[in-house]
Formats: sequence, structure tokens, C-alpha cells
Amino acid sequence: MTEVSILPGANTRVLKYTGKLLKGPSGTLKELPSYLGPVLNFEQGQKVRIFFYNQIPEPCVTHWHGMHVPQIMDGHPMYAINQGEQYVYEFEVKNPAGTNWYHSHTHEVTARQVYQGLAGLITITDEIERKLDLPSDEYDIPLIIQDRTFTSGNQLHYALNMHQRMQGFLGDTILANGRRNHVVPVKTRAYRLRILNGSNSRIYKLGWSDGSPLTIIGTDGGLLEKPQTFPYIMLAPAERVELWVDFSGRKPGSELALQTLSYQGFSMRMGGGMGMGSNTMDQGNKGTIVKFAITKQVSDSPRLPDTLVPIHRFTAKDASNPDIVVPIAIGMRRMTFNLNGRTFDMLDYTNQEKIPVNTVQRIRISNINPGIGGGGGMGGGMRGGRGGGMMGMIMAQPHPIHLHGQQFQILSRKPGHADSAYAAIKDGFINSGWKDTVLVMPGEEVEIIKPFTDYTGLFLYHCHNLEHEDMGMMRNFFVS
Ligand code: C2O
Ligand code: CU
Ligand code: CU
Repeated sequence: MTEVSILPGANTRVLKYTGKLLKGPSGTLKELPSYLGPVLNFEQGQKVRIFFYNQIPEPCVTHWHGMHVPQIMDGHPMYAINQGEQYVYEFEVKNPAGTNWYHSHTHEVTARQVYQGLAGLITITDEIERKLDLPSDEYDIPLIIQDRTFTSGNQLHYALNMHQRMQGFLGDTILANGRRNHVVPVKTRAYRLRILNGSNSRIYKLGWSDGSPLTIIGTDGGLLEKPQTFPYIMLAPAERVELWVDFSGRKPGSELALQTLSYQGFSMRMGGGMGMGSNTMDQGNKGTIVKFAITKQVSDSPRLPDTLVPIHRFTAKDASNPDIVVPIAIGMRRMTFNLNGRTFDMLDYTNQEKIPVNTVQRIRISNINPGIGGGGGMGGGMRGGRGGGMMGMIMAQPHPIHLHGQQFQILSRKPGHADSAYAAIKDGFINSGWKDTVLVMPGEEVEIIKPFTDYTGLFLYHCHNLEHEDMGMMRNFFVS
């Protein structure tokens, strides 16, 4: 579905959406042999030019998720091009070392286009990272996790009934790098895993099959200050996490699996007859994502560094105006999720949330009683949250909220339902480091702080449950 080739002159890449997978040249690109796009490797400070050719019979546009680029390079749906047209993206790589991704962002069809393969990984390196001597090349493994459903002819199947439209698509098979039952052969040494949840709506509770803790070295926006261990990680659509995993001391012939552990998934498979077919895998079901097969004994391995990169940690006082908190209220009205009571309006400049350029802003994302707080309600006494029956289940959904532009930091999380379901996931939130997407659970309120420097214009914020995004759970903010 994508072709990337290097044109004469360094740093120039071509992205072609052709509808079939063509092999790109090796060298600067790591090929993932699947329906996914190739991995693009960038360096901080590099100026890149990407020729994007649309060769599919519908409009398309590409967004560089996580990257700090000017408005016209950001892949806003208003810049979608038609079949046969070309868009030249040019930007300087400002982000630090880390793992980002690109995907289509076409108006109302992002979910289907991403599902069908219009997505790929971006890695960035910088000087600080190079000094750390982290596992590289074959020891640096990208893992894109997606769930899919196949037709009897083994083709990707995407169709939504009303419930799937409300809760997002959930496939019955988990793929890693486009493969099911993926097994990665490894040596008895340390590896770096760059994990992207590229699923439309599935939220994973990542854990090792032997119960050992996960060592985290990076989040959406780059490396952490220092490695941190977690019993499990909640990874929502669009979030990235970088793991350090050391297979030293494991026996050749043994295996270690990365799994998604079971949790109460806020699924709508309830109320009798509301199921979505026999072989769906509900949100929160357990499954194996990828297996690592220890094949070869080696004697040395790099050591996990004690510290990684310096991060200037913001507090609320670092906001340009600490007394102002920009609200992002998750709402629902007439069976459509909204943000601040509004759904997406591509070119509406007048009602946009306005942010002065070169400021730092506190932002509060709240997922409280969407049917009421979202302006309008669901008709009368409908309650959001638990216990509201079918309607309550629809409203009480987790939403991974993503903001375009620069990475932000999480200042605080205020849980709404401090019950056992929440207790079983809360230790999996990584609240340190740079983020561009944050999972906001039902009843929860998350405060973030985000710089808006360099670029003015219209940028998006939206739910990264892609079905929610396509139904209009997306808004522009206007930086000026
Ligand atoms: Cu990953 Cu606006 O998107
Ligand atoms: Cu983005
Ligand atoms: Cu959502």
C-alpha cells in the first residue's frame, strides 16, 4: 500500500499509496513485510522532504503523528488530495529521539484507511541517544500491534454495526507487524522494543507471560529520564511505549510472550443479543501478541543505563497563565461523542478553541457523565457512568485523547470510579515523560500541560479511537 524510495539527494523520500505492497530499497529503511508502510528513520535536525502520491481511488492525506511540524505539513484533512495527485511534505525534524508514526487522516474515513494499512512507524535518533548506546540494528525491534478480522478468503474485513460504531472496531485476531502468531528469534542479551498500538480501538494491558515486570525506557514523545518498571502497561490506540528487555540468563529453546492481559473492558457485549458475532475478541480479553524465541546464547549484552535523557518537568506554575485551564470535556449527544459540546467542523475558524502562540497551557480533559456534560444530554434523566444500563455502558467508555503539535506532560489524574475495575488497570498508566496521547477512563479527569511554540494555524485534537474520530470526536485548535 505504500512505496518508499530514496530519490537522488539525501533525506528525500517518496510515499506512494498504491493499493499494493511494493518493496522499497533497504538501507535507511527497515522493511516490515506486511500491509503496513515501511519504517522511516529520521534524525533530529534533519530536513526531510517526502513526496506523497495518492494512487488509491479516494481522497487521502498523511499525518506525522507525534511530530512537531507546521500546519500545512501536519496532514489536516482539509489538505486531502485525490487519486493521481501529489503532496510534497517538507519539514525539519524537531523531535528528540523516539518512536512516532504516520497514518492517513482523511475526513471521516481515517479508521478504514488505517485499518487497510495506511500507517507506518517513524523512528528518530539524536545525539544524546547515540551516546547512550542502547541496543541498535537487529536488537532494536519495532512492534506495531493491531487487531484485525479476516474474511474466509483471508482478506482484511472491516464492517461496523451500530455498536461497533459506538465502541470502535475490535478484531478477532491480534497481529504484530501485520503477522498473526508472530515469533521473533532472539539471543540471550538485551533488546529495545518500540511498541506502537496501531489498533483502531483496542486497548492493551501489556504484560510478560512469566509475570516479570516491564522495564520502560520511553513513551510517545521519546526517552524517559530513567528506566522505570511496571507490572503491566495500559497501551491505548496511538500510544507508544519503549521497552528494554533482557533475555540474558534465559535458556535457548525457551520462549517469552508479550501478552495482553484480561481486564474489564467496558465492552458493550451485554443486555442479551447485543453481541457482535461469535468470534469477536472483546475489549479486555486476554491474548498473545508476539513470542520471543530464545535461539542463541551470546556472552555479552549492553547494560541498562541508570539515566536516559534530561527532561524539564513542568508543574502547573510553568503555564503562561497558571490560572487558566483549557477544558476538553468529553460529551455525547444523539449517539455521537463530542468534545466541548461540538463535533468536527473542518474549516470553522470562528468557533475554534484559540491558543496564543509561544505559550504553555494547562489543559483538563474530563470524561465525566458524557451524556450530561457534553451539552444536551441523552434525553432527560440518562445517567453516564456505571449502572446506566446499555446507555450507561455506551457513555462510560475510555477515550485516548490525542493533541497534534508538541508533546505534553501529564500533571495529574483524578479517577472517578475508584472501584475494582479501575484498580486493575491504574498501575499501567505511564504518567512521566512526553506524551501526545493520553487514555482517559470513564469518570476520570486528566490534567496535562503543553507548549504551543513555533507554529501558528489550525491543529487537531481528537479521540484516537478511530471510529470515534470519524464520527466527529475531533476539533481544531487555532494557534495564533
Ligand atoms: Cu494519530 Cu490526528 O492522529
Ligand atoms: Cu497526531
Ligand atoms: Cu473516544
